[in-house]
Amino acid sequence: MNPIKLALLGAGTVASGVVQVLERNHAEIVRRAGRGIEVTAVAARDPAKARRTLGEAVAITDDFDSLVRRPDIDIVVELMGGTTRARELVLAAIAAGKPVVTANKALLAVHGTEIFEAARERGVAIGFEAAVAGGVPIIKALREGLSANRIEWIAGIINGTTNFILSEMRSKGLDFDVVLKEAQRLGYAEADPSFDIEGVDAAHKATIMSAIAFGTPVQFERAHVEGITKLQAADIRYAEQLGYRIKLLGITKRRDDVGGIELRVHPTLVPSTRLIANVEGAMNAVLVNGNAVGSTLYYGKGAGAEPTASAVIADLVDVIRLITADPDHRVPHLAFQPDALAATPVLPIAQTVTAFYLRLHVADEAGVLANITRILADRRISIDAVLQRESGDNENQTDLIILTHDTLEGEMDAAIAQMQALPTVLAPIVKLRKEELA
Ligand code: NDP
Ligand code: HSE
Repeated sequence: MNPIKLALLGAGTVASGVVQVLERNHAEIVRRAGRGIEVTAVAARDPAKARRTLGEAVAITDDFDSLVRRPDIDIVVELMGGTTRARELVLAAIAAGKPVVTANKALLAVHGTEIFEAARERGVAIGFEAAVAGGVPIIKALREGLSANRIEWIAGIINGTTNFILSEMRSKGLDFDVVLKEAQRLGYAEADPSFDIEGVDAAHKATIMSAIAFGTPVQFERAHVEGITKLQAADIRYAEQLGYRIKLLGITKRRDDVGGIELRVHPTLVPSTRLIANVEGAMNAVLVNGNAVGSTLYYGKGAGAEPTASAVIADLVDVIRLITADPDHRVPHLAFQPDALAATPVLPIAQTVTAFYLRLHVADEAGVLANITRILADRRISIDAVLQRESGDNENQTDLIILTHDTLEGEMDAAIAQMQALPTVLAPIVKLRKEELA
């Protein structure tokens, strides 16, 4: 049988990882795929730069449009990123009858429904394991390993850059900007790193997992997204004193009580005894709770050239097996048929339920705490713990940290507005969400 011919679109970090790993592990990969594999051509907008990155062995072209339609190409591997040119080229490849493997979470979170539908109509496979949690095989776990379960919720550290930043800031006391530069140098960050630090990249990944878990269309535009740029060192410190770590989590949760789905990304307090609270550096970890298996945890490198290449090549092996041997028994891209998508809505953030961490900078005088707890009690918001700490040089002022039990976010926001209006509350109240993840 002829070897499978690949076209790579893009010649950056992930593409170089794919070329390296395919070369180094060629014999094993070919044995597992049951077919020879060759990188027939790479499309790059700067061929000279691509040549420096990929070496002399591969053919390089700057004609992306012709490459995705070339009759001799069997599989198109999209490793460019972005949602405009990547969408055009992926749809062109599908229209030309070519299966596509992509690492592009932004593309799938925004245009996934259109792309999966086009692929289904044309009868070609789309592999996207690398799009969520880099080298961690979480898509395979959701689509195949957990297929007996009704998924209840997923919570994950799914952005390596931000986890690296939070870890380095906490353990080494380094500044945000210094650590971000290092994450960029190591190839973890997106081309536009604001996607990482503002939580957008994690929301892309949470959106994809949510669609797979709950059988809904991809609904990135409905996700609630907060990054780590507003997180203050004082809150990381207070959280530690209360027995919690702050992690940027992507969370999606089934809410049968109101017929919806929660889909949110935000810094979250997690008990420091949980495994996921101890996931450090650029590592990713995804907790999946299914109604038969309970909670399962998937952990590994979520970014970087070779870990991501590991997931891209695993998809290639799957696709090659499908097109070589078994066209009638394909696992659909989303593990369910795109014409049977559930209409379950993503809930507005005000309807989501979590516990909260509040930090109030207040006047240190009689009655302050009583006024605050009265507001919470009137709204039936139950307090879990209170901590009072000196907050600086002014001995007439103090920081009051309150942990609540599970509360409707809308109710919490209304209480915060009332507390903020008290003359004894001297600065904007800090609100963070807290999850027990049990
Ligand atoms: P890089 O920026 O390192 O590489 C992207 C490549 O695509 C470069 O060759 C770039 O060209 C080219 N490219 C980008 N946009 C265009 C365009 N509009 N037209 C033509 N060529 C273009 O990115 P990565 O390799 O890091 O990421 C690739 C994909 O993989 C992205 O979707 C990313 O989100 C995803 N991913 C990345 C991970 C990582 O750890 N890096 C992990 C998991 C997924 P040029 O050099 O000229 O800019
Ligand atoms: N920028 C992403 C991250 C790359 O830091 O996790 C992997 O998707």
